[in-house]
Amino acid sequence: MRTLVEETSLSPSDFVVPLFVVPGEQRREPIASMPGVQRLSGDELVKEATRLHSLGILAVALFPVVPYPQKDPQGSGALDEKGVIPVCVQKLKRALPSLCVITDVALDPYTTHGHDGILGVAGDVRNDETVERLAQMALVHARAGADFVAPSDMMDGRVGAIRKVLDGNLHCDTGILSYTAKYASSLYGPFREALGSSLQQGDKKSYQMNPANSREALLEATLDEEEGADILMVKPALFYLDVIAKLRAHTQLPICAYHVSGEYAMVMAAHERGMLDARSVFREALLSIKRAGADMIFSYATEMVL
Ligand code: PBG
Repeated sequence: MRTLVEETSLSPSDFVVPLFVVPGEQRREPIASMPGVQRLSGDELVKEATRLHSLGILAVALFPVVPYPQKDPQGSGALDEKGVIPVCVQKLKRALPSLCVITDVALDPYTTHGHDGILGVAGDVRNDETVERLAQMALVHARAGADFVAPSDMMDGRVGAIRKVLDGNLHCDTGILSYTAKYASSLYGPFREALGSSLQQGDKKSYQMNPANSREALLEATLDEEEGADILMVKPALFYLDVIAKLRAHTQLPICAYHVSGEYAMVMAAHERGMLDARSVFREALLSIKRAGADMIFSYATEMVL
């Protein structure tokens, strides 16, 4: 009876699994800050995605680990058609055409300083120069076969610029999952460690949102929608359930929530010390994210709740 009247449930189709990819072959490296998550080379990525797809997972999101010598202040590697992301997208789409492949559009894995954009002389992130580059980066991903590009950089105007470049190059079918309300959060540390993209100077407060604001998220949503976004993201998830609920009421677009690395790592750390049971905490956390109004959730804990 309890189940009959249950209002929210979790199923594999609710989730997008974020995967970290490294150049090379036969590599599966554990990530110290994220127990149970690994960095995968392209061949291992295909095996992992095949396994996940057979469990009913419909989409994965790829994040690249770029070796330091290939980074530069401009993040030039982001435009390399033979870079780890385009190569992995091609491999995945060839092996698993029905799997939805989402790529991250932001410069941070490719820049020596770890910022999502190009810096000016004063160390400020240059919005407009960055946007041009991001649009070219999205085109590289679309050409490789990405189903969705997901700009996570928070520059102003990038959704419109990406849509224009994609449409102008006959990639009208490539969707845009926009990180609409991405907060300047303290919960991204384990992810930056996984990627080797920790900030070398400053912080991301000039482009990521102030955790004190929620009306601003509605403004960002309106702009993204006007610029052509197909799905709107709120990130992180649990500290921002009010933002998910507000956006759900504000737009007809699908809402995605990112249950981020810090949200995963803190539960795993408590679990390892015998303080909490990770599976039941994750089930409750992910249910609450869905209950708040998310249509889909990026989570490293996906398999633990299926
Ligand atoms: C950067 C990016 C970040 C995450 C996804 N894309 C980190 C950041 O903004 O510094 C974090 C995801 C996570 O913590 O799981 N473009």
